[in-house]
Amino acid sequence: MSNPITGKHIIIGVTGSIAAYKAAELASKLTQAGALVDCILTESATRFVTPLTFQSVTSRKAYTDDDLWAGEGHVVHIGLAHEADLLLIAPVSANTLAKLAHGIADNLLSVTALAATCPSVLAPAMDAGMYAHPATQQNVQILKGRGAEFIGPEPGHLASGLIGLGRFAEPDTILRRVRYLLSRDGKLAGKRVLLTVGPTQEALDPVRYISNRSSGKQGYAIAQALLDEGATVTLVSGPTNLPFPEGAQVIEVTSAAEMKDAVLAHLADKDAFISVAAVADFTPRAAADEKIKKTGHNLTLELVPTVDILRTVSEERRRSNPNMLVIGFAAETNRVYENALKKLQEKGLDLIVVNNVGQPQPVFGADQNKVTFLSLDGQRQEFPWMEKYAVGEKLVEFLLRKWDL
Ligand code: CTP
Repeated sequence: MSNPITGKHIIIGVTGSIAAYKAAELASKLTQAGALVDCILTESATRFVTPLTFQSVTSRKAYTDDDLWAGEGHVVHIGLAHEADLLLIAPVSANTLAKLAHGIADNLLSVTALAATCPSVLAPAMDAGMYAHPATQQNVQILKGRGAEFIGPEPGHLASGLIGLGRFAEPDTILRRVRYLLSRDGKLAGKRVLLTVGPTQEALDPVRYISNRSSGKQGYAIAQALLDEGATVTLVSGPTNLPFPEGAQVIEVTSAAEMKDAVLAHLADKDAFISVAAVADFTPRAAADEKIKKTGHNLTLELVPTVDILRTVSEERRRSNPNMLVIGFAAETNRVYENALKKLQEKGLDLIVVNNVGQPQPVFGADQNKVTFLSLDGQRQEFPWMEKYAVGEKLVEFLLRKWDL
């Protein structure tokens, strides 16, 4: 498995906007992600940047209107258009938006756009006044109505020196969106997966809480791997510092009780539940309304058990959704497999991912993990240290096997 951008043909159309220079970074990043990137520059784009810039970062020919009128000019746009998995016009100017909306085909980019049948993504960049103009807004609506996807524009500083809505979306934002759009026909398309990820925080008073060392990295990486294979992903996430995976529905929660409520509210119709979260096993009987003051004496906290979310889901599926797969994690420091197997059986899981968190090499907060899969049918798969994303890929492979996909 590789990321959904790898091997895809992407046309990047570059139009006359000062943001054209950022398109070079975008072309470079898409190439590095494994795409075959063909760039088409309009005449006005070449006033800002040169074809050589794009050829240098994509290692492929970059096209201009000269190619439309060259020897094979009458077919070059057809060839480009038919090969493309995605037409990405970034930046797209008000002028090109108008041409696309009205089917005007007077340069290589607009001819190619008319000939293309693949999805199109448009990232506008222009002065705020031009973007707000009713003509542009109507063109945007026409194009959206035909299924074009817009990324941005974003509010911020514009080349005119003014602040407004017209800024080109950041190349990374566009990259994330393209990755998501190109993943939608993966093998897990149509499968709905619910995950819990990250730590929980159990409030002691308005300023203090009890939590754990989970960073959320493993859960977010699994979510990304599932998204990359086309799954529809709902994340119930405890507090983390991580950016949300593009395309996932994210429900942010703080405590174990909130996490349980969010999971139960989103469980219906799911094909799999993956419990990666490090859920607090205990919570203060009641959070103090006021900050707890020091008194010079010891402080005793009374903690009560939280609900085991994974066990609750496993019980619930027996009642309402017997085909749903239920996968848990086991963080163990001793008698690792014995304890994990017990959890697998007691919680009624299809698979438990065993994490030995007592190893000298830390797992919490790290980018790598070392896990073993124990499945209900007694199979044990032990993996070496690998990127947390690769652990996600292994889980994707498990699901594909289970679902015969
Ligand atoms: N889990 C859960 N709800 C809880 C506690 C744990 O859903 N209140 C889930 C975790 O997300 C994980 C699995 O149960 O998938 C096992 O969690 P772990 O902390 O390893 O074990 P516990 O069941 O909490 O048992 P112990 O802490 O005694 O090892």
